[in-house]
Amino acid sequence: METSNPLNPEKPFSQEPLNNKNSEIWTERYRPKKFEELVGQDDIVKKVQNLTKALNIPHLLFAGPAGTGKSTLALIIVKELFGSTWKENYLELNASDERGIDVVRQKVKDFARTKALGNVPFKVIFLDEADALTKEAQQALRRTMENYTSTCRFVMSCNYSSKIIDPIQSRCAIFRFKLLEKKDIEKRLRLIVEKENLQISDQTIEALYESSEGDFRRVINLLQASASISPTITAELINTLTSTAKPAEVKIVLEYALSGDFLKAKEKLLDVMLKESVAGTDIIKAIQKEIWNLQIDDELKVRLTEKTGETEFRMTEGSDEFIQLESLLASFVLAGKGLR
Ligand SMILES: Nc1ncnc2c1ncn2[C@@H]1O[C@H](COP(=O)(O)OP(=O)(O)O)[C@@H](O)[C@H]1O
Ligand SMILES: [Mg+2]
Repeated sequence: METSNPLNPEKPFSQEPLNNKNSEIWTERYRPKKFEELVGQDDIVKKVQNLTKALNIPHLLFAGPAGTGKSTLALIIVKELFGSTWKENYLELNASDERGIDVVRQKVKDFARTKALGNVPFKVIFLDEADALTKEAQQALRRTMENYTSTCRFVMSCNYSSKIIDPIQSRCAIFRFKLLEKKDIEKRLRLIVEKENLQISDQTIEALYESSEGDFRRVINLLQASASISPTITAELINTLTSTAKPAEVKIVLEYALSGDFLKAKEKLLDVMLKESVAGTDIIKAIQKEIWNLQIDDELKVRLTEKTGETEFRMTEGSDEFIQLESLLASFVLAGKGLR
């Protein structure tokens, strides 16, 4: 937008639009818009691209970890299918946001009542986080899918396909997304770095990748957070922002426990968790790694690794983090005494 410049009418002031570019969230700005821009999921992209070209997509189930391109691929499909009319032909629902399956069914019904516009014979419904639906809700969803097969295709995403009931799985073509590898992330990351005029070293890319664990959303969010502090992205900056448990500190906790000093171990653990505000699940990961650096025999390492895995599972199921960690430390104490 331009306004007249009283000092020099030849050169009007340029006005940044209110919704200025810098306030945009980078995961949206750099969300791939074409099949070719997706990295690391080549087989899936090739198959889905062919189906889309033939205007012949079955119901699809995208299974896999967060930030690997599931929602992005669903959007690319509808944009390819419908071009400029994609918004009229696409309904996106998030199973964990919608209040119950009845809301989902009503929305699907309203949307599916009218025919698709243009030459594609169906509309597309994207149901994100379908594994958040209960088994009963999934049964209801399956009937809804059957009722509207002639006018709609469902694309569903989930973390674990095992949480989706068999009758839905068998109606879908299932695609398993994998965690992104360093080379995939690096390729696209360098492009973003260049477009945003940032500087980054190979070592920092490694640090970004390490802390993301193959989740591209995390990589981009970390990059944006770092860039808001400095255009030169350093590994120290990344580490400050992620504040993961420091291996040396975790090692001290474990050594106290193995030497039989439960109270000191517990005190130190609390210290790490509160001072560094590290999440329990991150501590568990650090413990898992540190076990293999301890001066203990391998059999004990294996047993402790197993225990740690159990604790992690309970934690992700929603059990209190500190209580779980304390109980894990107790196992370490017993193991140190040769009692377990
Ligand atoms: N395979 C990929 N290739 C390129 N960018 C990706 C890929 N996966 C994720 N991203 C980036 O991460 C962000 C989140 O991806 P998204 O598709 O929403 O993940 P999810 O698998 O959780 O649905 C996207 O905006 C995109 O910038
Ligand atoms: Mg998603």
